[in-house]
Amino acid sequence: VPSVGESWADQILRHLSDIGRGQCAISDATIEAEPNLELRQILLGHLILHEDLLSERAQREEAVREQARISAEQRRLTVGLERALEARDQFLAIASHELRTPITTLLLQLECVKLLVGRNRGGELEELKARHLPVLRRQVDRLTALIMEMLDVARINTGRLELQPAPVELCDLVAEVVERFEPEVARRRVALHVTLARPVAGRWDAARLDQVITNLLSNAFRYGEGRPIDVSVRRDGGRALLAVRDRGIGISLDDQKRIFSPFTRAVSSDHIAGLGLGLWIAHEIVEASGGQIRVESAPGAGSTFTVELPVAA
Ligand SMILES: Nc1ncnc2c1ncn2[C@@H]1O[C@H](COP(=O)(O)OP(=O)(O)O)[C@@H](O)[C@H]1O
Ligand SMILES: [Mg+2]
Repeated sequence: VPSVGESWADQILRHLSDIGRGQCAISDATIEAEPNLELRQILLGHLILHEDLLSERAQREEAVREQARISAEQRRLTVGLERALEARDQFLAIASHELRTPITTLLLQLECVKLLVGRNRGGELEELKARHLPVLRRQVDRLTALIMEMLDVARINTGRLELQPAPVELCDLVAEVVERFEPEVARRRVALHVTLARPVAGRWDAARLDQVITNLLSNAFRYGEGRPIDVSVRRDGGRALLAVRDRGIGISLDDQKRIFSPFTRAVSSDHIAGLGLGLWIAHEIVEASGGQIRVESAPGAGSTFTVELPVAA
């Protein structure tokens, strides 16, 4: 509202200073009400200037917000990428170390075999059979298992983990895997209690489930500090439940969230062998079978891994 006696020049200056502060008292009504045509033009020009400035400021603010969003997204991607790269590098270091260890043992054992066969005096071939050949066999098995794990990574990452479901009695399967661990049980003198509540039948991929059970059991041996291990299979309504319990080092809550991801190991690589892939592969197999895998644990209190699978209807 122009004050009484305000000159054109004063009016224009007042509007300009308003506009500079992001405000404007000019409206369509003020323009209509202005009898002076020239002043009307000027007022209209001011209003347009004000609106242009407002929209430009809004655009600038939006651009700043967008830039902040992009930066945050980039930071997130960078952190994710760095973590993935770190996990991969650590994996490669562990993988090459893990692969070299059995090869070194194999070479040494082969030298012994050569020596004993060359001499071939009484009793020496017996020593070969009893001592060196089992070591050779164990190391070859270990290498094979490591290479299979690495192949599974490629299969899972390219979506080629194909299951072949067929009728399976889970109790039989677990008994079979447990039997394969007999030499391990004897060597480590670990008490292994197995409770099988037959029947627990379903349609699953037996070879893949074998892999899951084998990994859970070898983890229980590896991280169980030689204390008793319990394995149980039972049916609970529409689900088959497999539990592997150890009383070893346990897993912190933080690590419990990570161990089912690829390449992650909760213990340092110089402590205990393994690629850190087993639980991730187990997780992928169980999920692809329509089931779930979970862990209950606390540091020092041991761990219980439970696999839940849908049973045949
Ligand atoms: N029974 C267990 N007790 C304590 N820690 C475990 C157990 N099983 C798995 N973990 C932790 O989870 C990590 C991932 O396990 P896994 O994927 O089987 O890899 P790996 O056994 O080859 O290290 C292990 O490195 C270990 O830190
Ligand atoms: Mg393992």
